[in-house]
Amino acid sequence: MKTVLSGIQPTGDMHLGNYFGAVKNWVDIQDQYKCFYSVVDYHAMTMPYDINKLRTNTWELIANLVAVGVDPQNLFVQSLVPEHTELTWIFNCFCSYGQLTRMTQFKDKSQQVSNGGNEEFISAALLSYPILQAADILIYKADYVPVGKDQEQHLELSRDIAQRFNSRIGKEFFVLPESLYTDTPKIKSTADPSKKMSKSAGEKHYINVFADEATIRRQIKSAVTDSGDTSAETMAEGVHNLFELIKACGNKESYDSLMLDYTNGSLKYIDLKQVTADAIVALTAPFIERKKEVNADKRKLKEIVKQSSAEIRFKAQETVREVKELVGLLNVSV
Ligand code: TRP
Repeated sequence: MKTVLSGIQPTGDMHLGNYFGAVKNWVDIQDQYKCFYSVVDYHAMTMPYDINKLRTNTWELIANLVAVGVDPQNLFVQSLVPEHTELTWIFNCFCSYGQLTRMTQFKDKSQQVSNGGNEEFISAALLSYPILQAADILIYKADYVPVGKDQEQHLELSRDIAQRFNSRIGKEFFVLPESLYTDTPKIKSTADPSKKMSKSAGEKHYINVFADEATIRRQIKSAVTDSGDTSAETMAEGVHNLFELIKACGNKESYDSLMLDYTNGSLKYIDLKQVTADAIVALTAPFIERKKEVNADKRKLKEIVKQSSAEIRFKAQETVREVKELVGLLNVSV
């Protein structure tokens, strides 16, 4: 069975954009591959963050992932496997500074930090961020990484590091990971459909997967549709986004019949919104139930994840032991 590795940052609420864009896919491929899914808390420290929230966010994300169907046995916490950071240092020595400064995510995020005003602090970790990501992937010799377009450059860097390492030591030690690209829907903010759904723009710009029914209905009711120009040739972004949501929720029939109405010019937005809200509520109701169950036995969940992190650590230790040998470091344990 081929190995898959992916990571997600613990940054608070899980919204429908996260769910349809990445997490749903994690759930869908679990039976096809040996999956390692990491809650990357070290990555979450690269931007200014709240120390009082990180640990809670990590556990909250784990509970959320399990509630939407991720097998807890596949989950681990990055900081519970310290070999990731050990390998990161070694990889720092196999990666050029220039290549890091060319990463578009680094350029974007360092801009964000400096535009933030009061806290003009760009950490060195923001620059070396993709090296830690390379360590996450290569340490398990993962074959595939399910990534969105925004992470492709980082995956490319992981391959470059693996290649440089392999050629330096003269053997094919690391597997060159490939992206597992799935065509996931790009969900937009319902309040401003020109932007993607994200937390950074504020609360009204995302729909929490675990929001109660009334909140979901309210958010969809106030969704921006079009600017009133019904003669427009192409579908307005907001209308398109509601259609995408219906499809993403798996309601193909409603999607088709509403699309027919749209083509005939008889679509009423109130109906479109009603169907969208119904679809989201139906999708998320079982998640909310499951989350209650998970929260009722937090101790158990913590034990499972600590256990799976400890098990996964054996593999990471084995790789790091071999790597240290290969690059000329000491291995006292050997
Ligand atoms: N950088 C990724 C993101 O922000 C998260 C991540 C960390 C990751 N390590 C990874 C993704 C390893 C895939 C594989 O989305």
